[in-house]
Amino acid sequence: MKKIMVTGALGQIGSELIVKLRNEYGTDNVLATDIREPQTEMDGPFAILDVTDGDKMTALAKEFGADTLMHMAALLSARAEENPMLAWNLNMGGLVNALETARALNLQFFTPSSIGSFGPSTPKDHTPQDTFQRPTTMYGINKVSGELLCDYYYHKFGVDTRGVRFPGLISYVAQPGGGTTDYAVDIFYKAVEDGNYTSFIAEGTYMDMMYMPDALQAIVDLMETDADNLIHRNAFNVTAMSFDPAELAAAIRKHIPSFEIAYDVDPVRQSIADSWPNSLDCSAAEAEWGFQATYDMDAMVTDMLEKIREKVNA
Ligand SMILES: NC(=O)c1ccc[n+]([C@@H]2O[C@H](COP(=O)([O-])OP(=O)(O)OC[C@H]3O[C@@H](n4cnc5c(N)ncnc54)[C@H](O)[C@@H]3O)[C@@H](O)[C@H]2O)c1
Repeated sequence: MKKIMVTGALGQIGSELIVKLRNEYGTDNVLATDIREPQTEMDGPFAILDVTDGDKMTALAKEFGADTLMHMAALLSARAEENPMLAWNLNMGGLVNALETARALNLQFFTPSSIGSFGPSTPKDHTPQDTFQRPTTMYGINKVSGELLCDYYYHKFGVDTRGVRFPGLISYVAQPGGGTTDYAVDIFYKAVEDGNYTSFIAEGTYMDMMYMPDALQAIVDLMETDADNLIHRNAFNVTAMSFDPAELAAAIRKHIPSFEIAYDVDPVRQSIADSWPNSLDCSAAEAEWGFQATYDMDAMVTDMLEKIREKVNA
């Protein structure tokens, strides 16, 4: 049975990942950590951990008896552009500490990269697994460096590092943490509460997206795959859908016919979005560990609206 420690466990991914892992591996076998206290009581072990404190990270993992470390703590794309040095220190410093912990304790290791690791010179359509990565954002620079660093720890030290490049993740449990694709979550709350939404991303801007249940399953599937199957390790392209705000609005309109979308474009987040791919090729993930997403845009929209209606009504 695995013993898994998760950093950044109260974030958009971590808060649902913890529940999934506890269902799969047992409540007491998953240690959630974050720099802040949970807002509601948590079912299972929790510890405060600032990932820039490497000694504490290693000590907690050792005390827990972890055999796996999932590193989620990070500053996301839009917030990283507001505070690039904080992003560098948290995203790179935290990752190095997590990799050193994995090396010292011989832990299996997972951390997500992102579509933010690509840049304007990357082919935009069917973006290949192995291609140009010259990002123009601090977040992207952190993510490419992280991909390389995770490969380095595998080749140099034999740490079993694994990872994916997540697209924008859509979910209803925790609010997204300041990324460029957050509009694709915000729109559902506004659709249910107000019947209209003003998008900070322009019409015609396509980005890859995935519904959270598929993202969580991808993490479990990749970590469970026999290492012999893996040619790539740390930066598998994964995606489930690609749409622009107008197409998402049209899909919402099938459920809320009066729903309207307007645009008030934020130049910072728009320029980040413009530097990212339109749609990824995820054939390497499909071939090497059987990645398959189950939610397309319509299935995701149906589920999101149902869950957010329940949440808003409660
Ligand atoms: N959510 C997405 O759409 C998406 C897409 C691609 C990649 N990713 C990557 O997935 C990972 C998790 O993303 P997320 O969306 O859950 O992020 P998030 O911003 O929602 O959560 C990050 C968590 O880290 C915590 N944190 C911040 N500083 C910390 C510190 N110093 N020490 C410990 N914890 C700290 C925060 O309290 C928060 O709970 C990140 O590496 C992110 O780059 C996310």
